[in-house]
Amino acid sequence: MSLLLNRNSFGNPSNAGKLLSKEAANSLFEEWVLNPKLRVHMLQVAHLMQCWAAEKEGLSESGIWKWELSGLLHDADWDQWPDQHCKKIIEYLEQLEIDPEVMHAIASHGPAHFGVEPENNMDKMLFAFDELSGLIHAYSILRPGGYEGMDLKGVKKRLKEKSFAANVSRDEIQDAANRAGILLDDLIAFIIPRQATITNSVNV
Ligand SMILES: [Fe+2]
Repeated sequence: MSLLLNRNSFGNPSNAGKLLSKEAANSLFEEWVLNPKLRVHMLQVAHLMQCWAAEKEGLSESGIWKWELSGLLHDADWDQWPDQHCKKIIEYLEQLEIDPEVMHAIASHGPAHFGVEPENNMDKMLFAFDELSGLIHAYSILRPGGYEGMDLKGVKKRLKEKSFAANVSRDEIQDAANRAGILLDDLIAFIIPRQATITNSVNV
């Protein structure tokens, strides 16, 4: 089964700046994503994107929401339509005439899977957070205290341990950090406290 999208252009540039409202995004999320684990993952990535946009990119409120929305919806079709992963959510957002950058970010969150390269910072950070966030969360589940007391050293140890979260590609994680131009250590240090906060507050 190929998930290649076979295109690089998404949506219509005249829709730049057009985003889903928070209410509409939440209803889509509720309706499309039924798996509680996937919900947690998507909320974590959305929060990391929001934090990065606010803290590192210094964006306006709508810019921050665009980043959060891309994170929130990046796996929206994975749960119920895995053979149409990425394609279905992108086509849906195109119908709604959403900002093309949101679709591009979603389309490039796995270049090896969808055949679309991350281009701007939003694309690159979504790709950089996705798998690494998942590995860090898997580590938290194994730790008696969850995120409490988790540090960079422990995460790096798990990264080196090939049998841990074996389905998470270490090469992809490193590649994503390189593309974003961020040291892996800095990325991990950014994720841990923010992911701890969101995970403690989500109720799925
Ligand atoms: Fe994901």
